[in-house]
Amino acid sequence: MEIKEAAVTRIYARAAPSSSSSSSSSSLLMCNQRFRRQSCASPPPCAPTVATSAGSRHFPILHAARIHQGRCAPEQRSKHQNRRPPKGQDERRHGDPAPGRHPSGHAQQGTGTSNHKPGEVQKHLEPFRLSLEKLQDVSARLRKDMIRGLGKHSHHRASVKMLPTFVRATPDGTEKGDFLALDLGGTNFRVLHVRVLEEEQRVLKMDSQICAIPQDIMLGTGEKLFDHIAACLAEFLDSQKLRGQTLPLGFTFSFPCEQKEIDKSILIRWTKGFNCSGVEGEDVVNLLKEAIHRRGDYDISSVAMVNDTVGTMMSCGYRDQSCEIGMIIGTGTNACYMEEMKNVKRVEGEDGRMCINTEWGGFGDDGCLKDVLTEFDEEVDKTSINPGVHTFEKMISGMYLGEIVRLVLLKLTEEKLLFRGCPSEALLTPGSFETRFISEIEEPDSGLENAKKILTKLDLDWDLVDACVARLVCDTVSSRSARLCAAALATIVNRIRINRGLDHLKTTVGVDGTVYRKHPNFSDELQAAVRLLAPKCDVTFLISEDGSGKGAAMVTAVAQRLALQSRLLEDSDGEDEEEEEEEKCDANI
Ligand code: BGC
Repeated sequence: MEIKEAAVTRIYARAAPSSSSSSSSSSLLMCNQRFRRQSCASPPPCAPTVATSAGSRHFPILHAARIHQGRCAPEQRSKHQNRRPPKGQDERRHGDPAPGRHPSGHAQQGTGTSNHKPGEVQKHLEPFRLSLEKLQDVSARLRKDMIRGLGKHSHHRASVKMLPTFVRATPDGTEKGDFLALDLGGTNFRVLHVRVLEEEQRVLKMDSQICAIPQDIMLGTGEKLFDHIAACLAEFLDSQKLRGQTLPLGFTFSFPCEQKEIDKSILIRWTKGFNCSGVEGEDVVNLLKEAIHRRGDYDISSVAMVNDTVGTMMSCGYRDQSCEIGMIIGTGTNACYMEEMKNVKRVEGEDGRMCINTEWGGFGDDGCLKDVLTEFDEEVDKTSINPGVHTFEKMISGMYLGEIVRLVLLKLTEEKLLFRGCPSEALLTPGSFETRFISEIEEPDSGLENAKKILTKLDLDWDLVDACVARLVCDTVSSRSARLCAAALATIVNRIRINRGLDHLKTTVGVDGTVYRKHPNFSDELQAAVRLLAPKCDVTFLISEDGSGKGAAMVTAVAQRLALQSRLLEDSDGEDEEEEEEEKCDANI
């Protein structure tokens, strides 16, 4: 990284939020900044030279911008913008438009200058910064909503659904067999053949096939969607020479479902860009079976319905038997955990535990997070295909983070704090700022270079300060996402600890999802915040290895084991009586 770049990035990263000033909140902010410094402003090896050569570590940002590649400071630019550089030595950056023109060739609408004011930028980002107190408060609200969701009479008005999954146990290592698994929840649909080996305590993915789900199917009729799924399954069975075998099937269906039994699952509502007609309120297993019957060329045996969080917990539970929480931070977000049966008021029975799919994405749908939402969140919600639904998810997950960043960048441009006040066509286009850009821009080493490439790709007239501000925006939005997730996860681990009357809880969370996996410091930040929000819990995070595929097979295997055990139990229950009867019989003879 060049000397002046290092200085500019440092200045922007150092511009710390001001309003959350209590000691605890600042400790969280400090911890945040520590991670941030690693990512956004990691001092490059040449940093000390910067300080000396520039005379001060704190030289003003505009000076830094001015010295960058010898180009004009923004305020000077208007004077010089028509001056042509010597041939072959274009002084403008790659991606800079012709003077007074937008890169697309359109005439610029802005003034052609932007005012790089760190204070002004920070003011717009301030609503994203949540103090520790605020996060504790969010956690307390979620705790209340979770209790409401578990209640027999209150669950229907709960925005956090707390859905019983009928998964009553995590793997004990004795599971085995061959399974089919279906995975629907993102833009792709997968079919898998999975083998669970008892001896080696291993789950093997034998083979899998990915089928894309085109947009017209995601938004078409339910019949078309399930016909598509049945067709993919048929193709897979043929390619694997499995047609004719009746393997048990685990169906990972990553949407909120009211599960009546392990094989009866009513879709409550679509999320994450799906909106197929005629499926909400219907049993998904039935719809799948009907589609297979419509084809009439193959059949399936038992089906176990699984949410991806449950698959994630189960796939990790096989490796670490203290794994009793599953969390997804990907296209959508959600978590499940093992709750005491006595608290699951909607299901009969007091003994043991049951896995509850919290559907925490719906948190805030009753308006209880109004004070946390920013104008950008409101805009994202308004323009989504499901306004008013999955409020918490829309602040956190991969489907929405890029769009939040785009809206913030657009606002800063409108305020002439970025890109000389000129948005490009791309920046004006919803969905153009992909969530993966956030991870790329926040990469510790290559982030600034990535930012420059991405801004160029978006046809923006950027300078170094713009690139740093874009990085700061990404950092702020992803940081809020990580901390909100931490608040929600802390609610769960604190609840498990209190449920069990423990002073200290040691537990494991199985995690999956692109945001958690791919973002350079999301996981660090989330974990650091959980430590602050759940100080009496020692939480280990285990990345799931294909929870939606292998985990689904595992749920099916556990369901089979439990069914077998309960059948054996019934057999042995009757054994004594039968013996007595036989003895009586013998005596009579
Ligand atoms: C769905 C959940 C799912 C989560 C992660 C949400 O939109 O409602 O059921 O677990 O996405 O995939």
